[in-house]
Amino acid sequence: MGKKLFIETLGCAMNVRDSEHMIAELGAHEDYELTTEAGEADLIIINTCSVREKPVHKLFSELGALNKSKKSGAKIGVAGCTASHLGKEIITRAPFVNFVLGARNVSKITEVIHRDKAVETQIDYDESQYAFKDFRSSPYKSFINISIGCDKQCTFCIVPHTRGEEVSIPAELVVAEARKSVARGAKEVFLLGQNVNNYGRRFSGAHEKINFTGLLRLVSEIEGLERIRFTSPHPLHMDDAFLEEFARNPKICKSMHMPLQSGSTELLRRMKRGYSKEWFLDRAKKLRSMIPDVSISTDIIVGFPGESENDFLDTLEVVGAVEFDQLFSFKYSPRPHTEASHYADTVDEELGSRRLAHLQDYHNAILDRRSGRMLGKEVVVYFEEAKENGFISGRSDNNLLVRVQGDASLLGTLRRVQIIHTSRLSYEGRLLG
Ligand code: 5AD
Ligand code: SF4
Repeated sequence: MGKKLFIETLGCAMNVRDSEHMIAELGAHEDYELTTEAGEADLIIINTCSVREKPVHKLFSELGALNKSKKSGAKIGVAGCTASHLGKEIITRAPFVNFVLGARNVSKITEVIHRDKAVETQIDYDESQYAFKDFRSSPYKSFINISIGCDKQCTFCIVPHTRGEEVSIPAELVVAEARKSVARGAKEVFLLGQNVNNYGRRFSGAHEKINFTGLLRLVSEIEGLERIRFTSPHPLHMDDAFLEEFARNPKICKSMHMPLQSGSTELLRRMKRGYSKEWFLDRAKKLRSMIPDVSISTDIIVGFPGESENDFLDTLEVVGAVEFDQLFSFKYSPRPHTEASHYADTVDEELGSRRLAHLQDYHNAILDRRSGRMLGKEVVVYFEEAKENGFISGRSDNNLLVRVQGDASLLGTLRRVQIIHTSRLSYEGRLLG
């Protein structure tokens, strides 16, 4: 009988894909099958995120609990960004941990499970052309890495330290992966990278130079592929050619993530984001004018060192002007190995919390006002999940979460739907035709 693997994935879509790679490698080479019960697993992996401090603290209490409840003889491994960042310190603090596997060393999973106290966190390890075995958590859509690492130096961000230098995955490998997914029935691909629209600046080895706009065109030529999504693009690299391809190409879903971080040009400079408030507003305006129903989501940090009342008002002004369809907002969390962690002019914790609440209230009011605009409209939904009470749910092209009454035969199909109820974040519709 096969051994059992329990894996918990925290953080971003890159981590989701890394977990799929680990599951695939362990399944193909070591005969592991997935379980959702940690207590019956022979191998427990936590794939961690280190972008903010709180989850890193929680990791150690969670590890302790898992160690108590695990099956006798089961192994525990820590993977992902906190593994890269803390390395062997994890084993010092939690000596029962059997191995530590950094975010850039995923392909070594089948090796580290056999080496007790192994710590593999090499930051320049190149997996950009490693042929991982195949595992997909969804039959309907496929996550596909197009680059690994990040070359930016945003002063708040630990990721360049945990995922290393940016390397693009050759276009022919990306296209082959997408073709394979489509052949297996997926109609949607989700292209992943820390900074997708910086694609093509560096490959390992000699490869045809191609940028992200070119890659989007290539992928969209795949027959049978209906939808392309991607995350995360960087506002700085949203040139006209990219935005025009995004608007023109019918296979590219009309949903754009534009991580603002701050609306203040002065703070953006201190964050080393490379764009101004005006540039961001101009890009968002261009998108909204080319594609009236486009959805725009964003990430915002409040309480960054030096953030004045006026800086915060700038952020609110951009939120009010762009009317983001989704907002992920965070209170600044100082991270080791980042420039901003040395900035002296920190913002009072309580003030940061107040600003966060204010921003969220302000944005919720915008959502409440805007959600009605979709009422009665027709959208195309790709159905992916059966819900309770006879509902099937999926995403519209512009990323609305839509549910309809229906049965499992809808799963994996794209259908025209009319929106009949709207709320802040989810919509109900009825099938048309
Ligand atoms: N503190 C708070 N939020 C952060 N993010 C990245 N680093 C930090 C930090 N030090 C946020 C950014 C990023 C998202 C993934 O997490 O908004 O876009
Ligand atoms: Fe993803 Fe960044 Fe978290 Fe790493 S630190 S898992 S790259 S969000």
